[in-house]
Amino acid sequence: MHAVNEFARAKAAGRKISVVTAYDAWSARLVARSNVDAILVGDSAAMVIHGHDTTLPATLGLMAMHTRAVAHAADGKFVIADLPFLSYRKGVPAAMTAVGVLVRNGAQAVKLEGVDGHEDVIGQIVGSGVPVMGHLGLTPQSVNGLSGFRVQGRNDVDAAKLASQAHELERLGCFAIVLECMPAALAARITSALTIPTIGIGAGPSTDGQVLVLQDLWGVDSGPSPRFVRHYVDGEAVLTNALNEYDADVKETRFPAPEETYS
Ligand code: KIV
Repeated sequence: MHAVNEFARAKAAGRKISVVTAYDAWSARLVARSNVDAILVGDSAAMVIHGHDTTLPATLGLMAMHTRAVAHAADGKFVIADLPFLSYRKGVPAAMTAVGVLVRNGAQAVKLEGVDGHEDVIGQIVGSGVPVMGHLGLTPQSVNGLSGFRVQGRNDVDAAKLASQAHELERLGCFAIVLECMPAALAARITSALTIPTIGIGAGPSTDGQVLVLQDLWGVDSGPSPRFVRHYVDGEAVLTNALNEYDADVKETRFPAPEETYS
């Protein structure tokens, strides 16, 4: 996908949309060579790359650095970058500065979490010509307010609130909405009620697309994975084996070979 209207076309045609995260140039290059539709420079970089327990330490500078690296290698794939924690909660001028930084570093769209209290910001970003992706359900920037990383919308009141927030994001002009960690039936209901596509993560099979963290997909995430993660390769085993083969070759003088040596 190269443009935002392709998201709408995909939903209209019933074609599923695939999105993965990337945070650096080499992985963005691999995604660019794949059939995956779009790249999300997620603030999950704070956890996956920098080892934090939450996404809260991600700063605008950090997101700009990762966005620039990804955009250099994305080779035409659509690049969405996360607005980090609080960057869109300090009023419209501060939010627009943050959006400007991400777009000047190569983002074609920005993603932000929730809607209540920053409707004006979303309207201003959309009105300025920058596509906005919403994010509802488990919104990791609110991890403390949500009492941890847990499934959202399990009771009728919470489910109704999420459905109405999704409508509000559509009304404000978002081009797509990430639905994270919610019952599949709720995600299905929201998806069929909206004209814009939903992109699910831990939200079942009925959303218009899916997003996964690349390191989860590649099986190089350490520790226990949430239920919704599928490892498409045991990357940890493959890469550890490569390291151990290298180690053995060095120690047993099989590396470097003559053809890997300058005369
Ligand atoms: O930061 C991120 O990687 C995300 C996805 C998990 C949707 O927001």
